[in-house]
Amino acid sequence: MDYDSVRAVDPAVADALGGERDRQEETLAMIASENHVSEAVLEAQGSVLTNKYAEGYPGARYYAGCAHADEVEELAIERATELWGAEHVNVQPHSGTQANQAVYFAMLEPGDKILSLELNHGGHLSHGHPANFTGQTYTVEQYEVDAETGRIDYDGLAELAESFDPDIIVSGYSAYPRAVDWERIQAVADDVDAYHLADIAHITGLVAAGVHPSPVGVADFVTGSTHKTIRAGRGGIVMCDAEYADDIDKAVFPGGQGGPLMHNVAGKAVGFKEALDPSFEEYAQAVVDNAETLGETLADHGLSLVSGGTDTHLVLVDLRESHPDLTGGEAEDALAAANIVLNANTVPGETRSPFNPSGIRAGTAGLTTRGFDEAAMEEVGDLIYRVVDAHDDDSTIEAVGDRVLELCAEYPLYAE
Ligand SMILES: Cc1ncc(COP(=O)(O)O)c(C=O)c1O
Repeated sequence: MDYDSVRAVDPAVADALGGERDRQEETLAMIASENHVSEAVLEAQGSVLTNKYAEGYPGARYYAGCAHADEVEELAIERATELWGAEHVNVQPHSGTQANQAVYFAMLEPGDKILSLELNHGGHLSHGHPANFTGQTYTVEQYEVDAETGRIDYDGLAELAESFDPDIIVSGYSAYPRAVDWERIQAVADDVDAYHLADIAHITGLVAAGVHPSPVGVADFVTGSTHKTIRAGRGGIVMCDAEYADDIDKAVFPGGQGGPLMHNVAGKAVGFKEALDPSFEEYAQAVVDNAETLGETLADHGLSLVSGGTDTHLVLVDLRESHPDLTGGEAEDALAAANIVLNANTVPGETRSPFNPSGIRAGTAGLTTRGFDEAAMEEVGDLIYRVVDAHDDDSTIEAVGDRVLELCAEYPLYAE
């Protein structure tokens, strides 16, 4: 990955690409939505399929010359079907957000009602936030997590559903560390005759590996990102029962997109093949075990975890109890200076602004890909605590940063 061809044309971009490669090699990527794909996935995404227009679907394209595009898309669909077990899969959405957009576009009319989790409580912009097209196109009501337990308030959700009478209930979250009870939400949706969209963007890999319960076969629609815990090419996916297949396909193309990004579809196919290998189950289990270890380590140091722990790949720390004067943004900056990259995050009952909230969110998918085990994760937890607790002490930040560099060298990412 020397980017020689890029350098010959455009040294500035080659420098940026090389800088980014080095940054990823020399920092701990703990943003919960990120992961490190394999060189095989990188190669597929950087392939000549970027040149190909393939509007339509395998066997029914609007352009000639799609034989290889068809092969690749069919493989991606076959493998996704094997991984998640849905009756119908569409692998063309350019992103998780566009996968959600396809479901709304297929099933709702403007003004229809979405019931979804509040952003501060772990929801996602594409579930009805006013700044997103969903918030401006549909009528949105939001449920919350229980203030005491930090877990979805399923009873509150049922009550709201009763009074609001939604057309669709959205489950699946961005910053929710606990397993989701899909059946319970489906029962609420059934009671009020609403569709149920389960957005498993973050936990696609955990669900595929069976280390998190699956909403496939429970919810009407399941969407996801393909580059997070599933570690495949960048983009999105929609899954549904056969009865909705045509509606969903039409909503993806031509409803919301033009030509599919076939190089990314190739990256999805390759990543899905990797995820079908039995070693992926071990990986996904290690992601969850590592998150548990990380959470326990931080809690042992006195940090407060939303919901008290995790069942997934992420932990959400509410800094207000242990460090009332430290904002999530300040913690994020101090950690970044120590080569630990995670993000400031809102927490349930947020009292600060979304731009500088009270929490930090950390995920273990990327480090687990590098081979970090529970002992290494415990050390990472210790390092995070040291920085949080001494966030304005330059010598601590420097010492932690140096130790992170050693860890990165011990667990290299891409071969030179
Ligand atoms: C729950 C949820 N849905 C959708 C998305 C959007 O995914 P993408 O960035 O692929 O559009 C995210 C992103 O993290 C997410 O957390």
